[in-house]
Amino acid sequence: MSTVSPSTPAALDAAVTKMQEAGVADVAVDVFRRAWTDLAEGRTGTLPEADIAPVEELDRLADLDPDADTDALARTAVVKLNGGLGTSMGMDRAKSLVPVREGHSFLELTIEQLRHARERSRARLPLVLMNSFRTREDSLEVLRRHPDLPVDGVDPDFLQSQEPKLLAEDLSPVSWPADPELEWCPPGHGDLYPSLLSSGMLDQLRSAGFRYAMVSNSDNVGAAPSAAIADWFAASGAPLAMEVCRRTAADRKGGHLAVRRADGQLVLREKAQTASEDADAFADVDRHRYFNTNTLWLDLDQLAAVLDRTGGVLGLPLIRNEKHVDPTDPGSPRVVQIETAMGSAIEVFEGATAIEVPRSRFRPVKTTDDLLLLRSDAFELTDGAELSPTREPLPLVTLGEHYTTLAAFESRFPHGVPSLRGASSLTVEGDWTFGQDVRVVGDAVLSATSGARPVPDGSTVGPSGVG
Ligand code: UTP
Repeated sequence: MSTVSPSTPAALDAAVTKMQEAGVADVAVDVFRRAWTDLAEGRTGTLPEADIAPVEELDRLADLDPDADTDALARTAVVKLNGGLGTSMGMDRAKSLVPVREGHSFLELTIEQLRHARERSRARLPLVLMNSFRTREDSLEVLRRHPDLPVDGVDPDFLQSQEPKLLAEDLSPVSWPADPELEWCPPGHGDLYPSLLSSGMLDQLRSAGFRYAMVSNSDNVGAAPSAAIADWFAASGAPLAMEVCRRTAADRKGGHLAVRRADGQLVLREKAQTASEDADAFADVDRHRYFNTNTLWLDLDQLAAVLDRTGGVLGLPLIRNEKHVDPTDPGSPRVVQIETAMGSAIEVFEGATAIEVPRSRFRPVKTTDDLLLLRSDAFELTDGAELSPTREPLPLVTLGEHYTTLAAFESRFPHGVPSLRGASSLTVEGDWTFGQDVRVVGDAVLSATSGARPVPDGSTVGPSGVG
């Protein structure tokens, strides 16, 4: 990471003034000020292998009583992180509104899961979205169509803060008169903590009798409310618990959980925090066995105490995200977005813990490859609105460059997605538009094309292409 010239505090002042003029909460400004300083000083925060130990066995959801007591769930609120803009799929709105099954969006599936859990447990289970300025309006409109959802005394959402995008060359706030909204970005999901505080949502939940929150990504339909985990978490007395999954060879590039030798605290280590001499240990999935699913359980009383003590500034490690001010225009100035991650709080809450959950609780949709799989018959929708695989292992989907954005993807599957039940893998190298009732079998490949090509209605795609 490069450092910037020492004269740049003027750039910080300009960014802070811009936030204050926009009415950003004081706590968010304080968090930003600290992160900006870390960034300007080039604090990269590597975590050497010598300073951490592997995590030994954790408690496992599989070993808990599925008919657990529902007292803890009755005091749990369901929080969905809904402020991201799905930029990896070329979106600039809430990913949770994308249709995923039978016309239902991620958000609608979440609502169905919640209803189901309410029926089973009699818990009130409020649904609370953390929105950003770009995701709020559309998402609240969906919630309004479900009048049974609101819980007395709890608002349906709270707004996370916003921060200026910074010019990469001097970290001053970028000016973009063509579309001033693009001068701002949400500061990552680590913003959950100061935003719960500054929005008043933390107080609201506690006053309404909620002691715990289960927080997860809005596109993770695997993260349904669980009485067993709630019960386990309440009994643990921990301030925070992370749901983690076992790493497999396919996860070796992603971050992992570890124990900090100095104080026994759980920490996350990402690739960017790993020195080259530790690369092998980082990728060793038998040594470092767990990764973060980004579903957290929080004890709101303990959270309130920590936020009170720190003034809301937890000092989470920063992530430097470099983009163009207009993400759709590669000619626009390069900017830095300072972000923090919610999960990294595991290292700042003393006594934070983790639980191993099966992969079924982790169904992220990062790319259109993931979306194709979830929409296909490789999954079925259960009565409880959960998505359950119809075949294991799931087929490996690799759509090429013509399918990267959601809009490009949708236009190439105008009649819905093909059947993948009989497929081991699907690799699409060219620009193919799928007809109706297409079936994919074996290790199917659609080769590179010189232009757009159709996959005819009713055809079968296999190892030698369209049959
Ligand atoms: P990610 O940062 O992993 O990104 O967010 P994403 O939204 O999936 O997509 P990209 O990287 O922009 O393509 C994980 C979850 O956190 C939320 C997202 O909405 C998603 O549910 N999130 C992210 C926020 O609520 N606020 C943020 O500032 C960032």
